[in-house]
Amino acid sequence: MRKHVLALGLAALGFVVLSSGAMAQEEAMPPLAKQKWSFDGPFGTYDRAALQRGFEVFQNVCSNCHSLKLVTYGDYGPGGPGGGLGYNDDEVKAIAAAKETTDGPNDQGEMFQRPARASDHIVPPFPNDQANRAAHNGALPPDLSLIVKAREGNADYVYGILTGYKPTPAGMKMPDTMQYNEHFPGHQISMPAPLSDDLVTYADGTKATTAQEAHDVVTFLQWAAEPHLEDRKRTGVKVMIFLLFMTGVLYAAKRKIWASVH
Ligand code: HEC
Repeated sequence: MRKHVLALGLAALGFVVLSSGAMAQEEAMPPLAKQKWSFDGPFGTYDRAALQRGFEVFQNVCSNCHSLKLVTYGDYGPGGPGGGLGYNDDEVKAIAAAKETTDGPNDQGEMFQRPARASDHIVPPFPNDQANRAAHNGALPPDLSLIVKAREGNADYVYGILTGYKPTPAGMKMPDTMQYNEHFPGHQISMPAPLSDDLVTYADGTKATTAQEAHDVVTFLQWAAEPHLEDRKRTGVKVMIFLLFMTGVLYAAKRKIWASVH
């Protein structure tokens, strides 16, 4: 029996060592730097100020190329999932009204433009994917609603992409429409570096460095992908406390029941 366990253990160890070796050879990617996120860990929450700054970055920069189809303007407000971004109803109305959306058909059977409302989805930058591709040399900027969850590395990966632009290494051929990004698979990305220092002016006066903008917009995108994260974590903590309590009760009961058996 003991021998079997030992053999099994060695086999498992061998598998782990071999597979990690194979992974390292696949592609020379620098490891993603682990960032500090307010939403990490069992007690994680969203930093409301960071969410609003992240929204400002998305609105002024990313939304020129990327859609956010699963989110409505109303989601930013108090009625939004997880309490939204902390904006009140009037602020949400103003944010929505700044964008024009297509509605219709009207009585004449024609589509028309009107200012967006809280119930509208975030207005995409292009009417369809083909138009978006045509504007970006054939590359499609993906919808960002779930991007943080869709990529291995999650928030750290998206942060890595936004801050991972480097000069093309000597000897590497780079097409004109692409740039070198150390965290993008293959290192050739069609997205021009979207962030730079002081690209936005934050309403709360925070200094807008590239790193700050990246950190804030990733916090916003994490919220878009998982707006109920705070509820989920709160429930998790409650469940853990309950399980701990039940363990105590059952242990006490077990001792009592078995007390007379020696
Ligand atoms: C000028 C247009 C443009 C802007 C502005 C822009 N992007 Fe992109 N983005 C693209 C294109 C094009 C791609 C597709 C890149 C590719 O597949 O090579 C892309 C891809 C991405 C990806 C996917 C990377 C992957 O793993 O596939 C992420 C994440 C992303 N963008 C985030 C952002 C964020 C966040 C912002 C705002 C700070 C932003 N983008 C601003 C054009 C843009």
